[in-house]
Amino acid sequence: MEYITINGGKRLQGTVQINGAKNAAVAIIPAAIASAGVCVIDNLPAIRDVHVLVGALRKLGLSCQFTDEHTIKIDSRDISGSAITYDQVKDMRASYYLLGALLGRFKRAEVPLPGGCNFGLRPIDLHMKGFEALGAKIQIEHGMVTATADKLVGANIYLDVSSVGATINVMIAAVYAEGITQIENAAKEPHVVDTANFLNKLGAKIKGAGTDIIRITGVESLNGGEYSVIPDQIEAGTYMIAAAITGGDVVVSNIIPKHMDSLSAKLTEMGCRIIEGDDYIRVIGSPNLQNCNVKTMFYPGFPTDLHPQMTALLCKAQGTSLLTEAVFEHRFQYVKELLRLGANVKVEGRVAIIEGGTILTGAQVMATDLRAGAALVIAGLAAQGQTTIGNVKYLDRGYERFEDKLTALGADISRIQVDE
Ligand code: EPZ
Repeated sequence: MEYITINGGKRLQGTVQINGAKNAAVAIIPAAIASAGVCVIDNLPAIRDVHVLVGALRKLGLSCQFTDEHTIKIDSRDISGSAITYDQVKDMRASYYLLGALLGRFKRAEVPLPGGCNFGLRPIDLHMKGFEALGAKIQIEHGMVTATADKLVGANIYLDVSSVGATINVMIAAVYAEGITQIENAAKEPHVVDTANFLNKLGAKIKGAGTDIIRITGVESLNGGEYSVIPDQIEAGTYMIAAAITGGDVVVSNIIPKHMDSLSAKLTEMGCRIIEGDDYIRVIGSPNLQNCNVKTMFYPGFPTDLHPQMTALLCKAQGTSLLTEAVFEHRFQYVKELLRLGANVKVEGRVAIIEGGTILTGAQVMATDLRAGAALVIAGLAAQGQTTIGNVKYLDRGYERFEDKLTALGADISRIQVDE
């Protein structure tokens, strides 16, 4: 079993390089199936979810070669199948993008219902609604989704919720739908735009990504091409919050500062200094962090994937803060672990009431999902004494070299192996 141990109280200082966006990479890699050529994708993060997905593409007969740890060459000219087994993708959610890519190009897909972080039901009904609107027949049985169509025809699709997954999945399938598809109430996240830009690089005709109406004009086929994934907004935000909670001075570099606007505004409200450059943000923490209220929303609102990390920070602020989770019905499993570190947090429905000014003290805790794990690392950086975090496999799904990067910033953190 692997654990991360942290001796807290160290001020983080220095520069950290941010890797490519996980949630863009896990959409773009399956989207490469839609190409009838060779795609070279770089700035991929070296994380577990990327490797799980590449494994699934290889099982489908695609040739996938990493030319370095952040660059892959995918040849989808000789694809031999359209079915993925549960074991190949069981503990990640983004496997659902294989549906849109296989259905679009081959009019047939057989993919397991998605796994992934356990905060609520996380249905995929809107994905199915979009595929059916394009003319697909959907069957869900024995935990598998089978989607088939004689042909796909463009349609107007209204998403009841601005779902990132549904927006991207339907967009990928619609590339091969005859005529025009319009996705209304679409998600506007940076990784939606990145996936659209990738597909357009291959010859797709997608307009309006990043707004709430995306129009896709169907094409006969897609060529190969080269593409570089955008920087990871959530990895960047995690390090910005780590700088703030330790009263540090950290330059978070190789990012798109605009993607961080909602977090930068909150950190400024709490008393941090934020200095923006073309491709970096410098965060100078404050010894007297002030409380503030946060509500997670779809982009450009405050990202739900920074919610747990923000709760950890608010434990250190003076006064009472409220954090409302408006995207997922229940994303508070991490709170019970924060309480073990001495936090004073109550959850009422979708609202966490955080009593600040508490002294966090090290303890043994367990990550309950990817961003919960990040929140426990952040709390451990500020806690007095040693914090030990289990279930680090969650962290490896979304953070490249997390401990190394924090060590380089001055944290006293390491990963230990313990034989069961
Ligand atoms: C993506 O998940 C991300 N995952 C999540 O990041 C992120 O939290 C989420 O978007 C919101 O930004 C990937 O991109 C792989 P949604 P996704 O569909 O697509 C409801 C991380 O830590 N909904 O935007 O599953 C759903 O229940 C992960 O990197 C439906 O009702 O999220 C939720 O309440 C965690 N029906 C809301 O929409 C559907 O068909 C938003 O979900 C789909 C979603």
